[in-house]
Amino acid sequence: MELIKEEIPLTRANRLINSGSVILVTSISKEERPNIITLAWQMPVSHNPPLSAISIAKSHFSCQLIETTKEFVINVPNVFLLKQVKFCGSVSGKNIDKFKESSLTPIPAKVVKPPLIKECIGHLECKVVDIYPAGDHTIFIGNVVVASANKGLFDGACWDLNKEETSLIYHFGGTLFATIGKVLDQQ
Ligand SMILES: Cc1cc2nc3c(=O)[nH]c(=O)nc-3n(C[C@H](O)[C@H](O)[C@H](O)COP(=O)(O)O)c2cc1C
Repeated sequence: MELIKEEIPLTRANRLINSGSVILVTSISKEERPNIITLAWQMPVSHNPPLSAISIAKSHFSCQLIETTKEFVINVPNVFLLKQVKFCGSVSGKNIDKFKESSLTPIPAKVVKPPLIKECIGHLECKVVDIYPAGDHTIFIGNVVVASANKGLFDGACWDLNKEETSLIYHFGGTLFATIGKVLDQQ
């Protein structure tokens, strides 16, 4: 079956990361070399306009890239990408090409320069609107300009959690990860 990325209304964009799952953020250098960083520290911060915040250590290569080019993409990995999530969160992209080394595939975004990661199931294309220093980290606030998800996995309002492809990754620190074991739909 052909893989189709379906656009999600911006009013629902935050629902792609509402759960606080681990994300893979792509950024790009001025010379258009892309990079990937694994992040657990992320949160939606506004519905209208749709804004999302990410917190990145100042020492990380991605921090420099986003400070310079002011764009990033939040990509939502599922549990089948756990190996790549660990890899992209353990080496710096300063001297290596993480796309090549992790066998993840860059595909063009609709509006911003950093690419989407094809294997991820959801994507928020963001333009930086605010930057806040926070101790040894920098908080970037991104205005979500396009949101998309794999066709059939987002039911219009939320991830369809009955599908195994929507098993998101949660990080509890160190080597401890989890995914959702039980869905409670409280109507
Ligand atoms: C599960 C996981 C979650 C992480 N979360 C964050 C985070 O929220 N913020 C951060 O600055 N680094 C985080 N890291 C560490 C970076 O992903 C890691 O240092 C990465 O190699 C930096 O890449 P870069 O130098 O190419 O930007 C996390 C790592 C893992 C494995």
